[in-house]
Amino acid sequence: MTILVTGGAGFIGSHMADHLLARGHRVVILDNLCTGFEENVPAAAEFVKGDVRDPGAVAAAFDKGVEAVFHIAGQASTIVSFDDPAEDLSVNVTGTLNVMNECIRRRVTRVLYASSMTAYGVPAKLPVTEDEPVRPISYYGITKEAAERYLFATAGRVDLDFDFHVTAFRMFNVYGERQSLDNPYQGVVTIFMANILKGEPITIFSDGEQTRDFVYIGDVADAWLRALDNPASYGTVYNVGAGGSISINRLVDVTLDCFGKSRETYEVRYLPERPGDQRHMTADISRLRTDLGWEPRVPFDDGMQRTLRWAVNKSAPGA
Ligand SMILES: NC(=O)c1ccc[n+]([C@@H]2O[C@H](COP(=O)([O-])OP(=O)(O)OC[C@H]3O[C@@H](n4cnc5c(N)ncnc54)[C@H](O)[C@@H]3O)[C@@H](O)[C@H]2O)c1
Repeated sequence: MTILVTGGAGFIGSHMADHLLARGHRVVILDNLCTGFEENVPAAAEFVKGDVRDPGAVAAAFDKGVEAVFHIAGQASTIVSFDDPAEDLSVNVTGTLNVMNECIRRRVTRVLYASSMTAYGVPAKLPVTEDEPVRPISYYGITKEAAERYLFATAGRVDLDFDFHVTAFRMFNVYGERQSLDNPYQGVVTIFMANILKGEPITIFSDGEQTRDFVYIGDVADAWLRALDNPASYGTVYNVGAGGSISINRLVDVTLDCFGKSRETYEVRYLPERPGDQRHMTADISRLRTDLGWEPRVPFDDGMQRTLRWAVNKSAPGA
């Protein structure tokens, strides 16, 4: 199959591209490199440099004979969404509309979408299931949810003369190799690793007792790949987490420990919490298990070691 991976020069998208190529698919990548890197684009993929907000660029990517889309390009930071809501809206919603319109125009029947746990806001109970009402508290959560809704509403349109199968993944805290070491707005695991590698203090917003569900990138890619041609996933939203709960203080301790350091010997600053911060988040992953036979396979400590090895190599002089 020929699969378009939007955002394929970024962290999650480049791993998806690798996994698709390994399964024998042809991969086309559309990315404007605003937070991604051309070096992340696998050599075997075809790269179209362009913006998902530009219908012409989206059409140029589809011209490569696209049969399914992994729509992953997005503005991925909660903080940026508050600093520049119009940018967040245009990339996440208009960009998705452009991809969707091109699917309709060319009768491309399959879209998998990179949604986010931020859609839930503050859930009434944890672990949160996909049936929990979505009440985002960040602008980013609003735009991720809006894009989901456009896609599902389109799949239900009675006037479409072809089947449009949508699956959305509400991903929790994805981490792993190739998560940016330079972007202070995205990816707390590699932000802390980069701080230590550069000898900078670590900054924690709030008291550090807020918790997150960290899921390793290889497990996330496995979930998407299982869904690609599985009708059980059509029209469905999935949580993608590991089902765990790790505090930011514990994450800092584990990260410092990887470097033989501790909070006693390394400067850790605490600043007030930021808008849109969710206090606790844990995914109920039963739906993914039941429908797709998926399990998170990489334990947190193992995933951290893999990420650390990559980060240290990447930061080595001359790398
Ligand atoms: N990392 C996570 O924990 C997480 C969790 C939930 C959802 N997501 C979503 O997954 C997606 C990928 O996130 P990531 O962590 O890999 O971030 P990333 O920044 O590494 O990847 C995003 C990619 O999209 C590209 N991009 C951004 N705007 C674009 C535009 N207008 N046109 C074309 N390309 C554009 C970037 O250059 C980058 O390569 C995002 O949509 C994000 O909202 C990520």
